[in-house]
Amino acid sequence: MTTQQHHGCYWEQSAQGPTFPSLSGTMDVDVAVVGAGIVGVTTARLLKDAGMTVALIEALEIGHQATGRSTAKVTSQHGLMYHTLADKFSEHQAQLYASAQEHGLATIRRLVAEHAIECDLESAAAYTYTCDQSQIYNIEREVELTRRLGLPASYVRTTELPFAIAGAIRFDDQARFHPAQYLKGLAATIPGEGCHVFADSPVTAWQSGRVDTPHGHVNARHVVMATHLPLGNTGGYYMRAFPQAEPVVAARIPATVAESLQGMYVNVENPRYSIRTHINAAGDPYAIVAGSAFKPGHVEDERRHFNDIESWLRTNFQAEPAAYRWVNQDYTSMDSVPYVGWSTSLGDPCLVATGFAAWGITNGSSAASILCALLTGGSNPWLELFDAKRIRPLAGASTFVKETASVAHHFVSGHLSSRPGPVDALARNEAAVMKIDDRKVAAYRDEHDHLHVVSATCTHLGCVVGWNEADRTWDCPCHGSRFDHDGTVLHGPAVKPLEHYTPSVNGKHHRG
Ligand SMILES: Cc1cc2nc3c(=O)[nH]c(=O)nc-3n(C[C@H](O)[C@H](O)[C@H](O)COP(=O)(O)OP(=O)(O)OC[C@H]3O[C@@H](n4cnc5c(N)ncnc54)[C@H](O)[C@@H]3O)c2cc1C
Ligand code: FES
Repeated sequence: MTTQQHHGCYWEQSAQGPTFPSLSGTMDVDVAVVGAGIVGVTTARLLKDAGMTVALIEALEIGHQATGRSTAKVTSQHGLMYHTLADKFSEHQAQLYASAQEHGLATIRRLVAEHAIECDLESAAAYTYTCDQSQIYNIEREVELTRRLGLPASYVRTTELPFAIAGAIRFDDQARFHPAQYLKGLAATIPGEGCHVFADSPVTAWQSGRVDTPHGHVNARHVVMATHLPLGNTGGYYMRAFPQAEPVVAARIPATVAESLQGMYVNVENPRYSIRTHINAAGDPYAIVAGSAFKPGHVEDERRHFNDIESWLRTNFQAEPAAYRWVNQDYTSMDSVPYVGWSTSLGDPCLVATGFAAWGITNGSSAASILCALLTGGSNPWLELFDAKRIRPLAGASTFVKETASVAHHFVSGHLSSRPGPVDALARNEAAVMKIDDRKVAAYRDEHDHLHVVSATCTHLGCVVGWNEADRTWDCPCHGSRFDHDGTVLHGPAVKPLEHYTPSVNGKHHRG
């Protein structure tokens, strides 16, 4: 049997559920929530429960960004996070982080049950394992600490994985779900009683009290910027959290292999593999695997990591060639703790939540509780730990220096070596950043032989974008903006498209 290859994300393409209208005209609500990922949808739902009127405004279809492109493990186990926190801060801070994750997990379970959301939510154990004896000490320390913090942790020497491991942390009674169906299902409970949900409505301008989309605007007492990274230069978060891309593969595996893999697994060493299974609507079992992180737009690293995941899946799980390949991104804050709350004073004040370090499902759900408490005047135990205005220079100094140097490099030259035109040399399905008339352009020839040429200069702050082969997008290594191959914005902080160029008859280019 041959495997059908799909470009794009398994969750997006298998999600069922309602669609939502786009925003047109003007409306007044208590709170405008921009972005319908896990943070935005949960915040809008909790605010409605608290009696507020809300407009939830999404740029794309719901479930098409970070949450809907994740591996969707719903767990308080975040690799070796608890020791990182105890070492950087204190055991008390690690305890607060643990209780926030437990709250996030419980919130998802409660909302799914209360609203009967069909999203394949099921309990599963989570494992962080190592095959490297030298990591056992770190695993054992994490088990001891997480047990002290009251998390359901134990140390194990075997798992259901089909290869020997050196040791693992096991957390019982964690969960996994279909992330895009969860978001669509929860969003569908929001409209009514003065509350609204809009899709295909990119916010292009914002200030306190108002957000604008191409065909309408919302007046609101408060704005929640739940856009993964706050848009534009809001709060300066683009300087305080850095993006990392990860390749994700969905590949069919034999039913017997899927039945034996009841848990969710991630290793601590490199290369990294985060794996879980899912049975699709037709009853076919898939392994969903995320691999090692790389800088967005670094296409050679992307290719290498995809090949590595596929070979690991084939060798260990009898997997067919990947049916779906996509890239997802997340942001890590300078001190490893997400920023949640009122934004720093750069620009108009709004509420933000970002920097989940690839563990945003539970973090994002508890972030929604924090944002809700700030808007309704309620108390919340995690306000200080996650405070989005905090500055903890010592905890993040070395990361800050490294990331600032990387951004400087991409401003000047970009990652892809520029090559001279003409673009005619590009084969079908080939893309490159090229120099034409002393300007860097990003050119892609699609499978139908159509040429797409746009400026390679990111409209956020001017870094040079790089090619993402799996998604056929131009991704910015500096702060994670993503653009479709025709230049349309798919992910902020940029809000303006890449400038368009049209090839002229004699092979030169002029602006379109
Ligand atoms: C490979 C990978 C695997 C992961 N797996 C897991 C996992 O198993 N478990 C886990 O806990 N975490 C995981 N994560 C992390 C998790 O996916 C993210 O932290 C989390 O989904 C972030 O949620 P969010 O709501 O902030 O962002 P998003 O889900 O991206 O939501 C933001 C929304 O805002 C919208 N938006 C953006 N700009 C605009 C605009 N101008 N106007 C209107 N709307 C806009 C976007 O379209 C998007 O829908 C993973 C991350 C990666 C990279
Ligand atoms: S995202 Fe900031 S320069 Fe591209």
